[in-house]
Amino acid sequence: MLKKINHIGIAVNSLDDALPFYCDNLGMVLEGIEEVAEQKVKVAMLAIGESKIELLEPTSPDSPVARFLEKNGPGVHHLAYEVEDIDAAIAKLEREGTRMIDRTSRAGAHGARIAFIHPKSSGGVLTELCQTGH
Ligand code: CO
Repeated sequence: MLKKINHIGIAVNSLDDALPFYCDNLGMVLEGIEEVAEQKVKVAMLAIGESKIELLEPTSPDSPVARFLEKNGPGVHHLAYEVEDIDAAIAKLEREGTRMIDRTSRAGAHGARIAFIHPKSSGGVLTELCQTGH
């Protein structure tokens, strides 16, 4: 069902403040910055081999990422596994009793379809399923 780790999501207070470390110090390539209005975040995607790092900056105080930052401070926010068929993956997990935050897939950054598994079902690790646009 899972193909690989697509990306790791990291919550930051400011993309402008966080990006120099990733781009200049670690030498990652910035693939693009995109606002995902539905989730009230600005997302920067950084390429690292076949995987990506996704930096998440909240665009509103009621963004889920703003609430995360308030509670935990900046740091690892979620892990995203790439799946071939996200609707089939959600159906399989629900059939087997896994609790989903998103019971149907929704639009993520860069044309992906995404769905989050409830951390209660994934040992406290916020887990995203992600089907890429290509
Ligand atoms: Co993500």
